[in-house]
Amino acid sequence: MEHRLAWRGPFENRELNELHAEAFAHDVLDDDWVGQVERHSLGWICARNESGELSGFVNVAWDGGVHAFVLDTIVSGAAGRRGLGTAIVKLAADHARGAGCEWLHVDFDDHLRSFYFDACGFEPTNAGLIDLAGR
Ligand SMILES: CC(C)(COP(=O)(O)OP(=O)(O)OC[C@H]1O[C@@H](n2cnc3c(N)ncnc32)[C@H](O)[C@@H]1OP(=O)(O)O)[C@@H](O)C(=O)NCCC(=O)NCCS
Repeated sequence: MEHRLAWRGPFENRELNELHAEAFAHDVLDDDWVGQVERHSLGWICARNESGELSGFVNVAWDGGVHAFVLDTIVSGAAGRRGLGTAIVKLAADHARGAGCEWLHVDFDDHLRSFYFDACGFEPTNAGLIDLAGR
């Protein structure tokens, strides 16, 4: 199935909340994604299938300078393992480069090493994380 990819493409909170819940196996929340990405992100990618349904998403956060950060890379279960995740990350990288960014960061769980390193082309590096919420 063909998917249309769009940088800063329009979307509704409801459809991204549903996609996010499916991808990360939690209840459907009522987060204001549109407000969040419009206020704080360099951009984002929306992928839509031939029926117009949201099939993929990635958020590109930004420090206002040369650093961009990939967050919430998501592909629907129905569209998975056909290269769509790789394509949306690549398009996000192209747009971040085009906006003058020099570094694209990401962090992820172990099982996604092959996705980010082999498929998407990230290099391994040292990185750190503090759970400020104390989970
Ligand atoms: C991670 C995710 C975005 C990948 O999307 P996708 O469209 O399925 O990825 P691609 O088809 O481009 O995958 C390319 C390669 O990456 C690797 N890969 C992709 N998803 C993987 C997974 N879930 N586990 C292990 N390897 C994976 C595989 O090597 C794959 O090649 P193959 O299918 O020939 O084996 C998708 O699985 C997803 O939404 N997962 C749930 C949400 C999530 O964890 N997001 C990441 C947050 S950091």
